[in-house]
Amino acid sequence: RRSPVVLGIESSCDETGAGLVSDGRLLGHAVASSMDEHARYGGVVPEIAARAHVHAANPVVRAALADAGLTLRDIDAVAVTTGPGLSGALQVGVAAAKSLAYSLDVPLYGVHHLAGHVAADTLEHGPLPNPCMVLIVSGGHTSLLLVRDLARDPIVHLGDTLDDAAGECFDKVARVFGLPYPGGPAVDRAAREGDPGAVAFPRPLTGPRDDPYGFSFSGLKTAAARWAEQHRAAGRPLPVADGAASLQEAVADVLTRKAVRACTDHGVGTLVVVGGVAANSRVRALAQERCDAAGIELRVPPLRLCTDNGAMIAAVGDLLVRAGAEPAPLDVSIDPSAPL
Ligand code: KG4
Ligand code: ZN
Repeated sequence: RRSPVVLGIESSCDETGAGLVSDGRLLGHAVASSMDEHARYGGVVPEIAARAHVHAANPVVRAALADAGLTLRDIDAVAVTTGPGLSGALQVGVAAAKSLAYSLDVPLYGVHHLAGHVAADTLEHGPLPNPCMVLIVSGGHTSLLLVRDLARDPIVHLGDTLDDAAGECFDKVARVFGLPYPGGPAVDRAAREGDPGAVAFPRPLTGPRDDPYGFSFSGLKTAAARWAEQHRAAGRPLPVADGAASLQEAVADVLTRKAVRACTDHGVGTLVVVGGVAANSRVRALAQERCDAAGIELRVPPLRLCTDNGAMIAAVGDLLVRAGAEPAPLDVSIDPSAPL
């Protein structure tokens, strides 16, 4: 008999994702984004995101099945993000997952969004070594996690941001620089033409007495805003490319320095960088450079699996199915502020 096929559904923010995974392999997936609808507000509007999920849920599941060459009857289990995320948005995905699990009479699994980001890498590079260090950097999270077995052991949370997430910093500074939303990719593009040494932006929480695994990005945002304001007050044009390159350098420096430090402190030989900001070209390059120097293996999922998607949720569901984990009840509720 063939291996179970797991459908994963993701709807925690502005992406509606569905993916199909079996035995650690990605069979197909599809993502719809309401990003364009939020652009003129400069950030995700929860009510708009939730409505967009209502429209996208069925078509996205259908598209993922078509991508995999499967039909609804091939699904053996359904996994869905229960949190953390926007409550209205999560509610839509969970309702869709429940109705599918109920009507197909297959088990339902609730998945932590961050576990999904971690598992995304397994779809490209195979099972994660035990233990591994994970740097999660997205619009909502900046965390260092010690991961052993995603299906069995709880993730050990080593550090977090005290204020803004790294992606949020990119998004907010991009606004100040007059770059389009979402800011991260726009800063990355603008930085290509800039000098990363042009502006000496601060490296928050990197002092000897600071929390080695803690992050803070709101000061960086303020420094970038002040730098932009100085140019405007003096009537000088803003050298956006230099500002973008320098900001990106500061963020990449802090993220990779702390992540490599966490690996050496804990004797961990593999660093996995996941989440939307793992798509950043400088974060990738500097992480590679520093891991090579420290003799650490670096794993970064491909770009399409770094941002929110359903395949990563299916990947966790697949691990849970294979580990014989207990399914969730059909009345499982969302957990918008789920802890790790
Ligand atoms: O993981 P994700 O898709 O959504 C969650 O926040 O969960 O991450 C989105 C974040 C946004 O803040 C976006 O600006 C950032 O990832 N991002 C980037 C890049 N691509 C996406 N930040 C920097 N450089 C990029 N190339
Ligand atoms: Zn995410």
